[in-house]
Amino acid sequence: MITTDHTVQLFLDFFRERGHELTPGGSLIPSPGDPVLFTTSGMHPLTPYLEGRPHPLGRRLTGRQRCLRTTDLDEVGDDTHLTVFEMLGSWSLGDYGGSQSLRWGFELLRDGFGIDPGRMHVTVFGGDEQVEPDHESWRTWEELGLPVEPTTEENWWSNGPTGLCGPDSEIFIWTGDEIPQGTPTSDDRWVEVWNHVMMRYTRHPDGTLEPLHRPCIDTGLGLERLVRILRNTQSVYDIDVFQPWITTLPRIWDPLDERSLRLLSDHLRSSIVILGDRVTPSPSGRGYVLRRLIRRTLTTLRRDDPTRTLSDLPIELMEHTLEHFRQSVDPHEVRTVLLDEERKFDLLLQRGRKVLSRSRFTGPLTEDDYHYLHDTHGLPRDLVVYLNTEAGVS
Ligand code: SER
Repeated sequence: MITTDHTVQLFLDFFRERGHELTPGGSLIPSPGDPVLFTTSGMHPLTPYLEGRPHPLGRRLTGRQRCLRTTDLDEVGDDTHLTVFEMLGSWSLGDYGGSQSLRWGFELLRDGFGIDPGRMHVTVFGGDEQVEPDHESWRTWEELGLPVEPTTEENWWSNGPTGLCGPDSEIFIWTGDEIPQGTPTSDDRWVEVWNHVMMRYTRHPDGTLEPLHRPCIDTGLGLERLVRILRNTQSVYDIDVFQPWITTLPRIWDPLDERSLRLLSDHLRSSIVILGDRVTPSPSGRGYVLRRLIRRTLTTLRRDDPTRTLSDLPIELMEHTLEHFRQSVDPHEVRTVLLDEERKFDLLLQRGRKVLSRSRFTGPLTEDDYHYLHDTHGLPRDLVVYLNTEAGVS
């Protein structure tokens, strides 16, 4: 059965054979001066080059990049969402156009990975009041014989409210047991694996779009999602890179329902990767994202059994994760920070129990109560909800 490493190799080789140079890729931490907290897409480290600066490796690039997204945190635990994940990418910096990119995408999925085109569906930008439909992508897919669904917002990619943006075209693969049916927007058994962005504009703060002097192509393929499809598994958590987690956690923390197992695997693994990029827990910024992940881990972990602790985690899980993400931090250091954070969490819980036992908080809490508990006592809403569940208050 194909592995994650082999999938990466096939992808990068395909693009290297077509003249693309390998970018170093890597850290979750963007370059200094970048306003975002974490790298959220494979193109992120390439932003200045997509904006026009010449890249030292040329105009065709490919690479592998770890990314972190907290926008979908509540969906983590379903079949497809992860907090830290990897993207494989290909880029044309003012070299070939969108049609070529889509054709190579189709060729690689069909011939390289052996996916039946009968299981593919694509979406394209259908136009809005500012930009006309993406006729070129639409025509290309029709020539390749794939079903096309046009949308507006879902096929417009931007890096934020201002800056680089453009229409995109997404490739979905059918994951249902029955014959493919419906469309990507009407049936979530169509899973998005590869987004091809026609990076054509910069958006200004007043909302206007300025065409780029040198339009580019930016593609990003969700590695874990593709491997899940190639290995024909139920979810991304069933692929090889999650195996050590999925087999070890239920042994040390028995019983664990499926959703909690997935959430713990995702959040612990993500926390290790963030620590591997040398971020430490703190009350704001990157460190707070890490702190939140560790606290969500702990509230999930303790819900069924308050005696559970992160010191039960075998060091091998940290080693495996750091090795997979090619990070050189000592796994024992990572473990020390996790345990330290757990101790701080326990102190906060003690304080929280004391505050919540006051008569003011015995009934249902109002929004004002939540604000007060947060601002005055440093008790986040998640934690208050957790403490009330622990105490049997609804
Ligand atoms: N930037 C696009 C995305 O994140 C393609 O990589 O989907």
